[in-house]
Parts: sequence; structure tokens; C-alpha cells
Amino acid sequence: MAVDLSVKLGPLQLASPLLTASGCSGYGKELDRYHDLGVYGAIVGKSISRNPRLGNPYPRTCETPAGMINAIGLQNEGFDSFVKNTLPKMRGFGTKAIVNAVGHDFEEYVWLVERFDNEEGIAALELNLSCPNVAGGMKFATDPGECERLVAACRAKTKLPLIAKLSPNVTDIAEIARAAERGGADMLSAINTLVGMAVDWRKRKPLVANFTGGLSGPAIKPVALRCVWQAAKAVKIPVIAIGGISTADDVLEFMVAGASACQIGTILFVEPDAGRTIHAGLKQRLIDAGVPRVSDLIGTLEGLPRPAACEV
Ligand SMILES: Cc1cc2nc3c(=O)[nH]c(=O)nc-3n(C[C@H](O)[C@H](O)[C@H](O)COP(=O)(O)O)c2cc1C
Repeated sequence: MAVDLSVKLGPLQLASPLLTASGCSGYGKELDRYHDLGVYGAIVGKSISRNPRLGNPYPRTCETPAGMINAIGLQNEGFDSFVKNTLPKMRGFGTKAIVNAVGHDFEEYVWLVERFDNEEGIAALELNLSCPNVAGGMKFATDPGECERLVAACRAKTKLPLIAKLSPNVTDIAEIARAAERGGADMLSAINTLVGMAVDWRKRKPLVANFTGGLSGPAIKPVALRCVWQAAKAVKIPVIAIGGISTADDVLEFMVAGASACQIGTILFVEPDAGRTIHAGLKQRLIDAGVPRVSDLIGTLEGLPRPAACEV
């Protein structure tokens, strides 16, 4: 039986529901040596800001039970260098390139979106509304009014499909999801990392120099599943799931719970070829279950209305 892994997320058609998550595999070349990147519907690059950023002091990562904490602090080469040196390579991997943009403030986001709109070969823009590791990095992800205002201003500057990446570090993710939809986002992605902390009691020191960082990996999967389910119920636009996704079964769980596609992040530190394994696993699971199209599963969890924008 031939199975169809393609998904349609509003204006974005993808050959596979599997994407990389921002910040966990650079911009494609880090994974290209392991396998053909065509298993991914798109590669999502690490966040890009207007100016280069050096990030936070070291140590910036540590392992935690079933996950990791990172406080990279959005290190990146900045817009000019990215557009000149990295974006051309991202376009050459035989899959779509999604750019993730992050600003210090409102003006920087809008500046970036306007500039990226002029660049060729970008399939979509993901707005990192939600980085917990930089000062003031959370207000657009936690205040519905600020979120809507920012997404609307970015929407006005681009025709590219716009993805609003949400934070789990909120009281009610449905409220923020609706704010991003009202602002004109074509899709949501959820979740970014949870604010966490780890200490070495013998040294009386935190394990990341920033004291707190973002928790990711399988440890956050149940939280991510709950957030994706709540967001998918709250909006009509497609939701891309992120958070601890490591296997084909994880992908299908999130899709049944309302996700139209899934990003994988932390698993790539452990298994850089996880994309290939998960892609093959997805095909096999669908064959075993007699489901011809992965899109048939989206939002089929008991009690969920199916998102209108995900029909292939
Ligand atoms: C080391 C590291 C760096 C990250 N950098 C970014 C980033 O630059 N921009 C962003 O939007 N998310 C970033 N994230 C968050 C991931 O994209 C993802 O939302 C989160 O890790 C949850 O998915 P996972 O459990 O599959 O890793 C980063 C995560 C990690 C672990």
C-alpha cells in the first residue's frame, strides 16, 4: 500500500509532516551528512536577529532527566551574514527552508519580517515569540494584546506564510493562540521550551551560567501535547507540534491531538538521523493501520473539531 505523507498547512504545502525545530540542528548542513533531507517537509533554521548575537556565557547546556536545559541566548550570525552566506545553502537541500526570526523589541521583529519578505526561496517565516533565555524575551508570548499587535504588524509586512511560535510558559495558551490568529498568523507552532533550572549542590553552582534555561526533550512531551491540543481547539489555523517528539508514534499522537505537522529538536542531539528513522516509521505505521494519508489522522482525537485549513 502506498501512503501519502503530504500535509497542507493553510498556504504551505509540505511533502512530509516532519520538520526540524529551530536551534537544534543549525541550518541544514549539520544534518545533511547523515541522510537525504527530503524526509523533512522543511528545515527550520535557528533564530536570526538583526545584528549578530554572541549568546550567553558558558556553560549553556546541561542534561536533565529525559531532556536538557539550554540557555544559548540566541547566538546567531545576524541578518546580513545569514542572507549572504547561510540562506543560499539552506535552499539547496531539496526541501523547503523556513526562517525563524527573533527581535529584541517590536521594531526589530518588523524590520526582520520586512527584509525577509524580499528574499527568494523562503517557504515560511516562523516568529520566535517565546525565547525564555533573553531579557524581555517573553512578553509577546505571554500578553495576548502584545502578541496580536506584533503578529499584525509582521503580517502587514509580508505575504510569506507566517508561523507564530508559542510558549508553554503561560497560564492559558488558548488565549495566546487566539491572539496570534487574530493578528493574522497563518499557523501556530507550539511549544518552545519550559523555563527550568538545574544545580550542582556540591559546588553550589547552577549547571548553566544563566541560572535558568529552557527545558526540552521527552520530559516536556506531555506538556507539549496538552498545549497543542488546547491550541488546536482554540483556533481554525493549523498548529505545528514541537516538544519531545522523538518517534513516529510521537508524531502520530500529536497529529491525532490536532497537529498538522511536527518539529523535532532535542532528539537530534542524540540521534542526528532521527528524521530518517521517523519518516520510515511513519510510513510503516500508516501501512499497518491501513491509513492511506497521514492528513486523515489530523485532529481525529475524540472531541476535537478538525482544522478546516489542513485538507490536502
Ligand atoms: C539548544 C537549543 C536551542 C534552541 N534554539 C531555539 C531558537 O533559536 N529559536 C527557537 O524558536 N527555538 C529554539 N529552541 C527551542 C526548540 O525549537 C523547541 O521548541 C524546543 O526545544 C522543544 O522541542 P524538543 O523537545 O523537540 O527539543 C532551542 C532548543 C534547544 C534545545
